[in-house]
Amino acid sequence: MRRIGIFGGSFDPIHNGHLHLAEEARCMAKLDQVLFIPTWISPFKQDSDPASCQQRLDMVRIATSSNPSFAVSDMEIRREAVSYTADTLKRCREMMGEDTRLYFITGTDTFLTIEKWYHAEEILTQYSFIIGSRPGYREEDLIDVIERVRERYGTDVLKIEIPRLEISSSDIRDSIRIGKSVRYLLPDPLLHYIERHRLYLDPAAVASLPGEEELPYDQIDHDIDEVIRGRLKATRLAHTYGVVETAVGMAEKFGADPRKARTCALFHDAFREVGNLAHGAVAADYMEAEFSITDEDMLNAVRFHTTGRKGMTVLEKILFLADAIEPNRNYPGVDDLRAMAEYDLDKACLMSLTRTIEYVKSQGQELDPRTQEAAEDLRYTMYSGNPAEERRFHE
Ligand SMILES: [Fe+2]
Ligand SMILES: [Fe+2]
Repeated sequence: MRRIGIFGGSFDPIHNGHLHLAEEARCMAKLDQVLFIPTWISPFKQDSDPASCQQRLDMVRIATSSNPSFAVSDMEIRREAVSYTADTLKRCREMMGEDTRLYFITGTDTFLTIEKWYHAEEILTQYSFIIGSRPGYREEDLIDVIERVRERYGTDVLKIEIPRLEISSSDIRDSIRIGKSVRYLLPDPLLHYIERHRLYLDPAAVASLPGEEELPYDQIDHDIDEVIRGRLKATRLAHTYGVVETAVGMAEKFGADPRKARTCALFHDAFREVGNLAHGAVAADYMEAEFSITDEDMLNAVRFHTTGRKGMTVLEKILFLADAIEPNRNYPGVDDLRAMAEYDLDKACLMSLTRTIEYVKSQGQELDPRTQEAAEDLRYTMYSGNPAEERRFHE
């Protein structure tokens, strides 16, 4: 019998507290999978400046993508109506079949009211529950309810203690609004997504930000595609399309703009023939001069795609790595790099830079100083210059 955890919530935004609870639930109850189901919220009924349904769904997908046991369902958002838990669980059961045991994952506050829910008896008799409780927080009330439902309905309840992770979505929204850092409260790719979509900011602050000019991506991509088809030989063209595919996938995963990633990838090797180090800069100049692209991040991603540089942005890291791991690449260690790039952009980047440095030195070639600086910079930000931490990474 399969064991599936069902974790519903508004996830506005999803944060490390949710992820930690889901992972604990998975381990403690030996779940085969945890299915996250973001709830639909009426656009007319929301509190101040929430993310849209699609954005909440995107964020849950991004946050869970590095865990193969986590999955996301858009079933509630697609229905565009508020759903009762009883109905959602019923739909999950129909979808997954009788040979599945469903565990509803929830927190203390929610479980305390469960006996008053719509179709409470049905829920409490047919499904198992995993409650993430905080030590000392309304513990006696919780134990009362657990004992009562066990006696009355024979409910299967597993209480797991989740200490010291008192992160709340509303605190995160408030912090963002007042400009306080929320780093380490949620996964880094989500920070990029929230920043890119300008979520949870004060509406006045958003209004004062310069509007980002929307590029005619489709037209540009079509035109540059024609150019590279005329310029590049077949293997280079295949490589370029490999970089497009990899970079777009990584952008979706790490919170960058997939359209920018696609366009940069199409341009990146358009002038490969001018040499190992110069072709990035030539392509960036060409983007600016011939296509009027002034987006600094895109230009830098193309300009530094072979060397890297200090202070690389997410988009720069993505293009740098996609270039190194796209499906046509084949060199010793590329699979390790691909595996690392599945879940940690910084570590994968550092790994690739380190390999480049070693390779260039072994060939007796001169190393571009920016490559060394990029590696040192990443190492420093990842480990705060702490060599003990770094040793652990290499072991
Ligand atoms: Fe290149
Ligand atoms: Fe390339």
